[in-house]
Amino acid sequence: MSGPPLSGRTAVVSGASRGIGLAIAEALQAAGAHVVRLARSLADTEGDGRTDLTCDVADAGAVARMARRVLDARGAPDILVNAAGVFLISPLAETTPEAFGAQLAGNLVAPFLVLRAFLPAMVGRGRGLLVTIGSVSDHEAFPGNAAYGAAKSGLRGMHAVLAKELRGTGVRATLLSPGPVDTAIWDSVDPDGTPGFTKRAQMLKAGDVAEAVLFVATRRDQVAIPELHIEPRN
Ligand SMILES: NC(=O)c1ccc[n+]([C@@H]2O[C@H](COP(=O)([O-])OP(=O)(O)OC[C@H]3O[C@@H](n4cnc5c(N)ncnc54)[C@H](OP(=O)(O)O)[C@@H]3O)[C@@H](O)[C@H]2O)c1
Repeated sequence: MSGPPLSGRTAVVSGASRGIGLAIAEALQAAGAHVVRLARSLADTEGDGRTDLTCDVADAGAVARMARRVLDARGAPDILVNAAGVFLISPLAETTPEAFGAQLAGNLVAPFLVLRAFLPAMVGRGRGLLVTIGSVSDHEAFPGNAAYGAAKSGLRGMHAVLAKELRGTGVRATLLSPGPVDTAIWDSVDPDGTPGFTKRAQMLKAGDVAEAVLFVATRRDQVAIPELHIEPRN
């Protein structure tokens, strides 16, 4: 009899304190993986099937220290999910340089830092899966989206380069780009009360994205899924 599909695997999930990252962490754990959950608001704790680590993934030093701990304790992760992210709706001319920089830091530099920290060990072992949570904004333009869209489009570009660099290494990379998902990321926007936004009831659920990650993570090693879009039905 076979056990859970991901038993014996280690997954690292950033942005796992709530929303999409939390749903992904729970799905991977339910499928048997030991999940290392990263977020600024998580306290360092050890549980059954999971490790929580406080980590600001936009801070290069904090990411390097976190990765050392994970690699020492568990070796190279089998699955690395970059789900941490920040959101901003603001017309370009009203976006401050600080706000623009914060979007790049949280949505582009942060996943770069986390990938960079784990890649050598994963490539060295010759097996593994990298999942990057992009967005519909990584391939579609929306007004008010200059900083977030620039960061997510940059993430798409970085993913495309990485996919080429990974050829022949045994490590696979997936860019998973969801449309609107009903999470706290929308709280500052109030999509239900603001014209032009998908209403919360019509949005995807975090669990829909988690199921997509689980699908990617449970394909056999020979199957690569470079890109996946998941959107609410029209
Ligand atoms: N919701 C959507 O409509 C939607 C659509 C497409 C793509 N996405 C993407 O999906 C991802 C998750 O979004 P969500 O909707 O789940 O947002 P959310 O509910 O606001 O959750 C964001 C998560 O990221 C973490 N985070 C943010 N900055 C961080 C940092 N510097 N270091 C560590 N953790 C950080 C937060 O934890 P702490 O605050 O505790 O650090 C939290 O766990 C993001 O990349 C977002 O761009 C979302």
